[in-house]
Amino acid sequence: MAILVTGGAGYIGSHTCVELLNAGFNIVVVDNLSNSHPEALKRVTELTNKSFPSYFIDLMDRDSLDHVFKEHHIDAVIHFAGLKAVGESVQFPLKYYHDNLMSTTTLCEVMEENNVRQLIFSSSATVYGVPQHVPIDENAPIGAINPYGRTKQVIEQILHDLVQSNPNWSVAILRYFNPVGAHKSGRIGEDPSGVPNNLVPYIAQVAVGKLTEVSVYGKDYDTLDGTGVRDYIHVVDLALGHLKALLKIRATQGVCTYNLGTGQGFSVLEMIQAFQEASGRTIPYRISNRRQGDIATCYAETTKANTELNWIAERGIEEMCRDTWRWQSMNPNGYRELATLAQKG
Ligand code: NAD
Ligand code: WQD
Repeated sequence: MAILVTGGAGYIGSHTCVELLNAGFNIVVVDNLSNSHPEALKRVTELTNKSFPSYFIDLMDRDSLDHVFKEHHIDAVIHFAGLKAVGESVQFPLKYYHDNLMSTTTLCEVMEENNVRQLIFSSSATVYGVPQHVPIDENAPIGAINPYGRTKQVIEQILHDLVQSNPNWSVAILRYFNPVGAHKSGRIGEDPSGVPNNLVPYIAQVAVGKLTEVSVYGKDYDTLDGTGVRDYIHVVDLALGHLKALLKIRATQGVCTYNLGTGQGFSVLEMIQAFQEASGRTIPYRISNRRQGDIATCYAETTKANTELNWIAERGIEEMCRDTWRWQSMNPNGYRELATLAQKG
């Protein structure tokens, strides 16, 4: 029996693979490496001392995916694979709708054909759009405000329709808030290609000297210091939430939706301050205009996940920043440096 992890070479996927293996699960990874490097999987093996099969295929390649299900006894799927850059989704909406929807529907069809009906799906707090109030609970109205978020919203609907059509399915939809941090070893972490879009990887690259200063997008929001407030969650806490969700879907049928966040919000300036303390580096920053599409404040109501999944985020922002810094300083060029060295050699 094994858990299929789609997008297992990616940021959240690789951390979840470590926790699954440490907890004694067998895993099989599928990833097309469009936004990741196989080195991440080598390091998962190094950290856990466990090897596992990996298939570098696209989820839309139905025959190859079916082959994976025929080769292994899969009993549940954790589906991380997908495109996730908000700005890129505005520029290339068709690519986002095509890839995210087609990969998920192909996966579900192949699962159905192989009698595998337990699924955990990576959704996002982005589906809430502009929240009417905080903390945001799972019953808050959804209304994503960019194509990426709308792909998550549509996939959530597809999964509800699927469960409606066949009650043997068991699906957990997990809405992540802002994942940050890295494994405490510093061996795996977030490895954005190009200039990071998200705050914490950007701060980390300023701290390590790859970028010169952080642009703080707006200081005129209705928040404690005027900068945007978010619910940052340590990626290892997030990974552990998937293990709890796995127990849940094994025990129940139907579809359930959970926010995975800490329930606490921190501003951009608070994050910069925390990162300075964790890294011992000065982080230069400049106040700039608001970024289009940003909201003032977003943090989760986490009671449902706390009570129904018996899960709680335990790591605070000091640990998030310390672990991000360890990863960034040990791997200033992410996994890419290795690829370049290998090509030269
Ligand atoms: P990531 O890009 O690091 O990981 C996604 C992985 O999926 C990558 O390794 C990529 O190569 C692979 N992939 C993409 N399309 C594929 C396809 N068609 N077939 C096979 N593999 C494919 O992203 P992440 O940060 O680890 O995010 C994982 C999931 O969580 C995504 O679905 C993302 O939308 C969601 N999510 C992420 C965040 C965040 O801020 N990181 C927040 C909320 C939700
Ligand atoms: C956080 C705060 C910015 C960069 C995004 C996606 C969301 C989800 C998580 C996938 C905001 C400010 C940022 C910078 C800044 N991903 N900021 N300078 O926008 O909350 O969420 O990632 O599902 O869908 O939209 O995260 O890290 O980009 O921004 O001042 O260089 O930092 O304005 O207040 P966001 P973020």
